[in-house]
Amino acid sequence: MRILVTGASGLLGLNLCLHLAEAHRVFGALHSQKLIDPPFQTLVSDLSNDRSLESLLKKSRPDLLIHCAAMANVDACESHPEEAHRINADMPGNLADLCKKKGIRFIHISTDAVFDGKMGDYSEEDTPNPLSIYARTKLEGEHLVAAEYSCAIIARVNFYGYSLSGKRSLSEFFLNNLKSGKSVNGFVDVMFCPLYVTDLVDTLMAMVVKELEGLYHVVSPESLSKYAFGVKIAEKFGLDKNLIQPKSVTEGGLLAARSPRLTLKIDKLKEAEITPPGQSECLEHFQTHYVEKLPEKIKAFAG
Ligand SMILES: NC(=O)c1ccc[n+]([C@@H]2O[C@H](COP(=O)([O-])OP(=O)(O)OC[C@H]3O[C@@H](n4cnc5c(N)ncnc54)[C@H](OP(=O)(O)O)[C@@H]3O)[C@@H](O)[C@H]2O)c1
Repeated sequence: MRILVTGASGLLGLNLCLHLAEAHRVFGALHSQKLIDPPFQTLVSDLSNDRSLESLLKKSRPDLLIHCAAMANVDACESHPEEAHRINADMPGNLADLCKKKGIRFIHISTDAVFDGKMGDYSEEDTPNPLSIYARTKLEGEHLVAAEYSCAIIARVNFYGYSLSGKRSLSEFFLNNLKSGKSVNGFVDVMFCPLYVTDLVDTLMAMVVKELEGLYHVVSPESLSKYAFGVKIAEKFGLDKNLIQPKSVTEGGLLAARSPRLTLKIDKLKEAEITPPGQSECLEHFQTHYVEKLPEKIKAFAG
Protein backbone atom coordinates (compact mmCIF):
# COMPACT_ATOMS: atom_id res chain seq x y z
CA MET A 1 0.00 0.00 0.00
CA ARG A 2 1.13 3.60 -0.61
CA ILE A 3 0.71 5.50 2.65
CA LEU A 4 1.12 9.24 3.20
CA VAL A 5 1.69 10.30 6.82
CA THR A 6 1.45 13.98 7.77
CA GLY A 7 3.41 15.31 10.74
CA ALA A 8 6.21 12.82 9.97
CA SER A 9 8.63 14.54 12.35
CA GLY A 10 6.15 14.35 15.25
CA LEU A 11 5.98 11.73 17.99
CA LEU A 12 3.21 9.72 16.33
CA GLY A 13 3.99 10.53 12.69
CA LEU A 14 7.65 9.53 12.85
CA ASN A 15 6.98 6.25 14.67
CA LEU A 16 4.15 5.52 12.22
CA CYS A 17 6.43 6.06 9.25
CA LEU A 18 9.23 3.91 10.71
CA HIS A 19 6.89 1.07 11.66
CA LEU A 20 4.88 1.07 8.41
CA ALA A 21 7.95 1.44 6.17
CA GLU A 22 8.79 -2.18 7.03
CA ALA A 23 5.80 -3.38 4.95
CA HIS A 24 4.52 -0.45 2.86
CA ARG A 25 5.65 2.37 0.56
CA VAL A 26 5.62 5.27 3.01
CA PHE A 27 5.76 9.00 2.31
CA GLY A 28 6.32 11.26 5.30
CA ALA A 29 5.11 14.86 4.97
CA LEU A 30 7.42 17.28 6.78
CA HIS A 31 6.94 20.95 7.60
CA SER A 32 9.68 23.01 9.32
CA GLN A 33 11.57 20.16 11.07
CA LYS A 34 13.55 18.11 8.53
CA LEU A 35 14.82 14.51 8.93
CA ILE A 36 18.26 13.15 8.05
CA ASP A 37 18.24 9.88 6.05
CA PRO A 38 15.03 8.30 7.35
CA PRO A 39 14.15 4.88 5.84
CA PHE A 40 11.13 6.35 3.99
CA GLN A 41 10.60 9.07 1.40
CA THR A 42 9.99 12.57 2.75
CA LEU A 43 8.14 15.48 1.13
CA VAL A 44 8.12 19.02 2.51
CA SER A 45 4.75 20.76 2.65
CA ASP A 46 2.84 23.43 4.56
CA LEU A 47 -0.50 21.69 4.90
CA SER A 48 -2.34 24.92 5.58
CA ASN A 49 -1.61 25.94 1.96
CA ASP A 50 -4.07 24.38 -0.54
CA ARG A 51 -1.63 24.33 -3.48
CA SER A 52 1.02 22.69 -1.34
CA LEU A 53 -1.55 20.06 -0.35
CA GLU A 54 -2.51 19.27 -3.95
CA SER A 55 1.14 18.92 -4.91
CA LEU A 56 1.80 16.61 -1.94
CA LEU A 57 -1.00 14.27 -3.04
CA LYS A 58 0.14 14.37 -6.65
CA LYS A 59 3.70 13.41 -5.72
CA SER A 60 2.80 10.64 -3.27
CA ARG A 61 -0.39 9.21 -4.90
CA PRO A 62 -1.41 7.52 -1.62
CA ASP A 63 -4.00 4.78 -1.12
CA LEU A 64 -4.21 5.85 2.51
CA LEU A 65 -3.47 9.14 4.26
CA ILE A 66 -2.90 9.18 8.04
CA HIS A 67 -3.20 12.73 9.29
CA CYS A 68 -1.03 13.21 12.39
CA ALA A 69 0.07 16.83 11.83
CA ALA A 70 -1.39 19.14 14.45
CA MET A 71 -0.68 21.93 16.86
CA ALA A 72 -0.45 19.45 19.71
CA ASN A 73 1.16 21.61 22.38
CA VAL A 74 -1.75 22.41 24.70
CA ASP A 75 -0.21 25.56 26.17
CA ALA A 76 0.86 26.92 22.74
CA CYS A 77 -2.75 26.54 21.53
CA GLU A 78 -3.90 28.57 24.53
CA SER A 79 -1.64 31.50 23.54
CA HIS A 80 -2.22 31.18 19.71
CA PRO A 81 -5.91 30.28 19.36
CA GLU A 82 -6.31 31.35 15.70
CA GLU A 83 -3.34 29.33 14.54
CA ALA A 84 -4.62 26.38 16.59
CA HIS A 85 -7.97 26.60 14.79
CA ARG A 86 -6.33 26.81 11.37
CA ILE A 87 -4.08 23.80 12.00
CA ASN A 88 -6.29 21.57 14.15
CA ALA A 89 -9.67 22.24 12.53
CA ASP A 90 -9.45 23.80 9.03
CA MET A 91 -6.48 21.71 7.89
CA PRO A 92 -8.01 18.24 8.53
CA GLY A 93 -11.30 19.43 7.01
CA ASN A 94 -9.49 20.43 3.77
CA LEU A 95 -7.53 17.19 3.70
CA ALA A 96 -10.69 15.11 4.19
CA ASP A 97 -12.39 16.96 1.32
CA LEU A 98 -9.43 16.35 -1.01
CA CYS A 99 -9.13 12.67 -0.02
CA LYS A 100 -12.83 12.11 -0.65
CA LYS A 101 -12.59 13.68 -4.11
CA LYS A 102 -9.55 11.55 -4.97
CA GLY A 103 -10.81 8.29 -3.39
CA ILE A 104 -7.97 8.17 -0.83
CA ARG A 105 -8.72 6.41 2.46
CA PHE A 106 -8.29 8.81 5.36
CA ILE A 107 -7.49 8.40 9.04
CA HIS A 108 -7.76 11.54 11.14
CA ILE A 109 -5.99 11.45 14.50
CA SER A 110 -7.95 13.13 17.27
CA THR A 111 -7.63 13.07 21.02
CA ASP A 112 -9.18 11.75 24.24
CA ALA A 113 -8.97 15.35 25.50
CA VAL A 114 -12.24 16.31 23.73
CA PHE A 115 -13.92 15.19 26.98
CA ASP A 116 -13.89 17.21 30.19
CA GLY A 117 -12.89 14.11 32.19
CA LYS A 118 -15.47 14.66 34.93
CA MET A 119 -17.22 11.31 34.34
CA GLY A 120 -14.70 8.98 32.67
CA ASP A 121 -15.39 5.77 30.71
CA TYR A 122 -16.66 7.71 27.71
CA SER A 123 -18.13 6.00 24.66
CA GLU A 124 -18.24 7.48 21.16
CA GLU A 125 -21.87 8.41 21.90
CA ASP A 126 -21.04 10.63 24.88
CA THR A 127 -21.05 14.37 24.35
CA PRO A 128 -17.59 15.95 24.40
CA ASN A 129 -16.93 19.06 26.44
CA PRO A 130 -13.42 20.33 25.64
CA LEU A 131 -11.70 22.31 28.41
CA SER A 132 -8.84 23.87 26.44
CA ILE A 133 -8.37 25.59 23.08
CA TYR A 134 -6.34 22.58 21.92
CA ALA A 135 -9.21 20.22 22.73
CA ARG A 136 -11.86 22.56 21.29
CA THR A 137 -10.03 22.96 17.98
CA LYS A 138 -9.40 19.19 17.78
CA LEU A 139 -13.15 18.59 18.27
CA GLU A 140 -13.91 21.13 15.52
CA GLY A 141 -11.46 19.20 13.33
CA GLU A 142 -13.41 15.97 13.99
CA HIS A 143 -16.67 17.66 12.98
CA LEU A 144 -15.22 19.09 9.77
CA VAL A 145 -13.68 15.73 8.78
CA ALA A 146 -16.95 13.89 9.46
CA ALA A 147 -18.91 16.48 7.45
CA GLU A 148 -16.53 16.28 4.46
CA TYR A 149 -15.88 12.53 4.32
CA SER A 150 -18.19 10.07 6.08
CA CYS A 151 -15.93 7.10 5.19
CA ALA A 152 -12.96 8.59 7.07
CA ILE A 153 -11.78 6.99 10.30
CA ILE A 154 -11.63 9.50 13.15
CA ALA A 155 -9.51 7.97 15.89
CA ARG A 156 -9.45 9.43 19.41
CA VAL A 157 -6.12 8.32 20.76
CA ASN A 158 -3.60 8.61 23.56
CA PHE A 159 -0.09 7.26 23.14
CA TYR A 160 3.54 7.41 24.25
CA GLY A 161 6.89 6.56 22.74
CA TYR A 162 10.28 7.89 21.66
CA SER A 163 10.48 11.27 19.92
CA LEU A 164 12.94 13.27 17.85
CA SER A 165 13.62 15.69 20.71
CA GLY A 166 13.81 12.85 23.25
CA LYS A 167 11.38 14.69 25.52
CA ARG A 168 8.01 14.96 23.73
CA SER A 169 6.17 12.18 25.55
CA LEU A 170 5.21 11.51 29.16
CA SER A 171 7.11 8.19 28.99
CA GLU A 172 10.30 10.05 28.05
CA PHE A 173 9.69 12.56 30.86
CA PHE A 174 9.61 9.77 33.45
CA LEU A 175 12.43 7.75 31.87
CA ASN A 176 14.83 10.70 31.42
CA ASN A 177 14.32 12.09 34.91
CA LEU A 178 14.41 8.76 36.72
CA LYS A 179 17.56 7.74 34.86
CA SER A 180 19.21 11.00 36.03
CA GLY A 181 18.04 10.35 39.61
CA LYS A 182 15.77 13.42 39.55
CA SER A 183 12.59 13.67 41.60
CA VAL A 184 9.38 14.29 39.56
CA ASN A 185 5.69 14.76 40.20
CA GLY A 186 3.17 12.14 39.06
CA PHE A 187 -0.51 13.08 39.00
CA VAL A 188 -2.63 10.64 40.97
CA ASP A 189 -5.91 12.22 39.84
CA VAL A 190 -5.39 12.20 36.06
CA MET A 191 -6.48 8.87 34.56
CA PHE A 192 -5.80 7.81 30.98
CA CYS A 193 -5.51 4.71 28.75
CA PRO A 194 -2.35 5.22 26.69
CA LEU A 195 -1.04 2.85 24.04
CA TYR A 196 2.60 2.46 23.11
CA VAL A 197 2.87 4.12 19.73
CA THR A 198 3.57 1.00 17.62
CA ASP A 199 0.63 -0.75 19.28
CA LEU A 200 -1.49 2.21 18.20
CA VAL A 201 -0.13 1.91 14.65
CA ASP A 202 -0.93 -1.83 14.52
CA THR A 203 -4.45 -1.13 15.78
CA LEU A 204 -5.03 1.60 13.18
CA MET A 205 -3.85 -0.73 10.40
CA ALA A 206 -6.17 -3.50 11.68
CA MET A 207 -9.00 -0.95 11.37
CA VAL A 208 -7.99 -0.22 7.77
CA VAL A 209 -7.92 -3.95 6.92
CA LYS A 210 -11.45 -4.30 8.36
CA GLU A 211 -12.54 -1.21 6.37
CA LEU A 212 -13.95 0.53 9.44
CA GLU A 213 -15.42 4.00 9.02
CA GLY A 214 -16.39 6.81 11.40
CA LEU A 215 -15.52 7.76 14.96
CA TYR A 216 -13.61 5.28 17.16
CA HIS A 217 -11.91 5.35 20.54
CA VAL A 218 -8.49 3.77 19.94
CA VAL A 219 -6.84 3.41 23.33
CA SER A 220 -5.75 0.63 25.68
CA PRO A 221 -8.54 -1.31 27.43
CA GLU A 222 -6.66 -0.68 30.71
CA SER A 223 -6.58 2.71 32.41
CA LEU A 224 -4.17 4.02 35.04
CA SER A 225 -3.16 7.31 36.67
CA LYS A 226 -0.20 9.28 35.37
CA TYR A 227 1.50 8.54 38.71
CA ALA A 228 0.92 4.79 38.28
CA PHE A 229 2.24 5.03 34.71
CA GLY A 230 5.48 6.55 36.01
CA VAL A 231 5.78 3.85 38.67
CA LYS A 232 5.28 1.11 36.04
CA ILE A 233 8.03 2.62 33.90
CA ALA A 234 10.35 2.78 36.92
CA GLU A 235 9.65 -0.88 37.74
CA LYS A 236 10.06 -2.00 34.13
CA PHE A 237 13.42 -0.27 33.75
CA GLY A 238 14.72 -1.07 37.27
CA LEU A 239 14.69 2.61 38.31
CA ASP A 240 13.80 4.16 41.68
CA LYS A 241 10.01 4.63 41.80
CA ASN A 242 10.34 6.59 45.06
CA LEU A 243 11.62 9.51 42.98
CA ILE A 244 8.01 9.98 41.73
CA GLN A 245 6.03 12.20 44.10
CA PRO A 246 2.28 11.51 44.05
CA LYS A 247 0.62 14.90 43.43
CA SER A 248 -2.75 16.34 42.40
CA VAL A 249 -2.98 18.07 39.00
CA THR A 250 -4.26 21.14 40.85
CA GLU A 251 -0.73 21.52 42.26
CA GLY A 252 0.87 21.32 38.79
CA GLY A 253 0.81 25.02 37.78
CA LEU A 254 -0.31 24.20 34.19
CA LEU A 255 -1.61 27.00 31.93
CA ALA A 256 -4.41 25.12 30.15
CA ALA A 257 -7.00 23.09 32.05
CA ARG A 258 -6.49 19.30 31.94
CA SER A 259 -9.28 16.72 32.00
CA PRO A 260 -8.92 14.43 35.05
CA ARG A 261 -10.60 11.15 33.96
CA LEU A 262 -9.79 10.56 30.32
CA THR A 263 -10.74 6.92 30.34
CA LEU A 264 -12.43 5.86 27.10
CA LYS A 265 -14.54 2.80 26.34
CA ILE A 266 -13.44 0.78 23.33
CA ASP A 267 -16.57 -1.39 22.93
CA LYS A 268 -17.08 -0.19 19.35
CA LEU A 269 -13.56 -1.31 18.44
CA LYS A 270 -14.08 -4.63 20.23
CA GLU A 271 -17.30 -5.19 18.26
CA ALA A 272 -15.10 -5.09 15.16
CA GLU A 273 -12.98 -7.79 16.88
CA ILE A 274 -10.03 -5.48 17.49
CA THR A 275 -8.67 -5.24 21.03
CA PRO A 276 -5.53 -3.15 21.56
CA PRO A 277 -3.04 -4.41 24.17
CA GLY A 278 -3.08 -3.70 27.91
CA GLN A 279 -0.48 -1.66 29.81
CA SER A 280 2.01 -4.50 30.52
CA GLU A 281 2.20 -5.58 26.89
CA CYS A 282 2.64 -1.97 25.70
CA LEU A 283 5.41 -1.36 28.25
CA GLU A 284 7.09 -4.58 27.15
CA HIS A 285 7.24 -3.22 23.57
CA PHE A 286 8.42 0.19 24.86
CA GLN A 287 11.28 -1.48 26.76
CA THR A 288 12.21 -3.86 23.90
CA HIS A 289 12.59 -0.86 21.59
CA TYR A 290 14.73 0.85 24.23
CA VAL A 291 17.06 -2.18 24.37
CA GLU A 292 17.17 -2.13 20.54
CA LYS A 293 18.36 1.51 20.81
CA LEU A 294 15.31 3.02 19.08
CA PRO A 295 15.63 6.30 21.07
CA GLU A 296 19.18 6.83 19.70
CA LYS A 297 18.11 5.85 16.15
CA ILE A 298 15.22 8.32 16.28
CA LYS A 299 17.35 11.17 17.67
CA ALA A 300 19.88 10.63 14.85
CA PHE A 301 17.21 11.61 12.29
CA ALA A 302 17.29 15.11 13.80
CA GLY A 303 21.03 15.41 13.11
N1 LIG B 1 1.06 13.39 22.11
C1 LIG B 1 -0.03 12.92 22.71
O1 LIG B 1 0.03 12.44 23.84
C2 LIG B 1 -1.38 12.95 22.00
C3 LIG B 1 -2.50 12.52 22.70
C4 LIG B 1 -3.72 12.46 22.05
C5 LIG B 1 -3.81 12.84 20.72
N2 LIG B 1 -2.72 13.31 20.06
C6 LIG B 1 -2.86 13.69 18.64
O2 LIG B 1 -1.95 12.89 17.89
C7 LIG B 1 -1.48 13.62 16.76
C8 LIG B 1 0.04 13.62 16.74
O3 LIG B 1 0.51 14.23 17.92
P1 LIG B 1 2.07 14.30 18.25
O4 LIG B 1 2.20 14.34 19.71
O5 LIG B 1 2.79 13.28 17.45
O6 LIG B 1 2.40 15.75 17.68
P2 LIG B 1 3.82 16.51 17.59
O7 LIG B 1 4.92 15.62 18.07
O8 LIG B 1 3.65 17.84 18.21
O9 LIG B 1 4.00 16.70 16.01
C9 LIG B 1 3.16 17.54 15.28
C10 LIG B 1 3.53 17.45 13.82
O10 LIG B 1 2.68 18.33 13.05
C11 LIG B 1 3.47 19.06 12.12
N3 LIG B 1 2.84 20.32 11.73
C12 LIG B 1 2.44 21.33 12.54
N4 LIG B 1 1.94 22.34 11.78
C13 LIG B 1 2.03 21.96 10.47
C14 LIG B 1 1.68 22.56 9.23
N5 LIG B 1 1.14 23.79 9.13
N6 LIG B 1 1.92 21.87 8.08
C15 LIG B 1 2.48 20.65 8.14
N7 LIG B 1 2.81 20.01 9.27
C16 LIG B 1 2.59 20.66 10.44
C17 LIG B 1 4.78 19.27 12.88
O11 LIG B 1 5.82 19.59 11.99
P3 LIG B 1 6.82 20.84 12.32
O12 LIG B 1 7.30 20.62 13.72
O13 LIG B 1 7.89 20.73 11.31
O14 LIG B 1 5.98 22.08 12.19
C18 LIG B 1 4.97 17.90 13.54
O15 LIG B 1 5.55 16.98 12.63
C19 LIG B 1 -2.10 15.01 16.86
O16 LIG B 1 -3.27 15.02 16.08
C20 LIG B 1 -2.48 15.13 18.33
O17 LIG B 1 -3.56 16.01 18.50
C21 LIG B 1 -1.51 13.39 20.68
